Amino acid sequence: MRVAGSLALALALAGCGDPEPARDAGAERAEPRPPAAIYGRYCVNCHGRGMAGAPRVGPEFRLHWSHEVEEEGFEHLVRVAIEGQMGMPPRGTCFDCTDEELEATVIYMLKQSGAQ
Ligand code: HEC
Repeated sequence: MRVAGSLALALALAGCGDPEPARDAGAERAEPRPPAAIYGRYCVNCHGRGMAGAPRVGPEFRLHWSHEVEEEGFEHLVRVAIEGQMGMPPRGTCFDCTDEELEATVIYMLKQSGAQ
């Protein structure tokens, strides 16, 4: 029993050394979580107050987001949300979010800012 337990622990710890976060973690979950819930739990910590240089979300910041969509494109913003960039951590720290959930959350952020 004890041996099996510590072997499982060793395997779990070895798994933590993988620098690449699982791509489709949670993909088999039936219901995607609502973007507002994901934003409120993970993204607002930085994007609500502009922590760590994060572009803020809200109607006052419509110009920033409209500009980003126009200049960089929506696909680019989704890629930043998934892969991270500078102060933006990969998946915005929602490591069990699917790509689809992150894309929906970016749309939510754009809507909150009145862009699109
Ligand atoms: C630890 C703070 C932090 C968290 C948490 C965070 N972000 Fe960010 N985010 C940033 C920063 C900082 C940038 C600006 C990156 C840069 O300078 O290139 C950014 C940029 C972005 C951009 C690109 C914006 C642009 O103008 O190009 C998107 C989209 C984005 N974040 C989405 C999200 C989503 C979705 C979540 C939640 C799942 C999230 N972020 C959570 C800090 C954060």
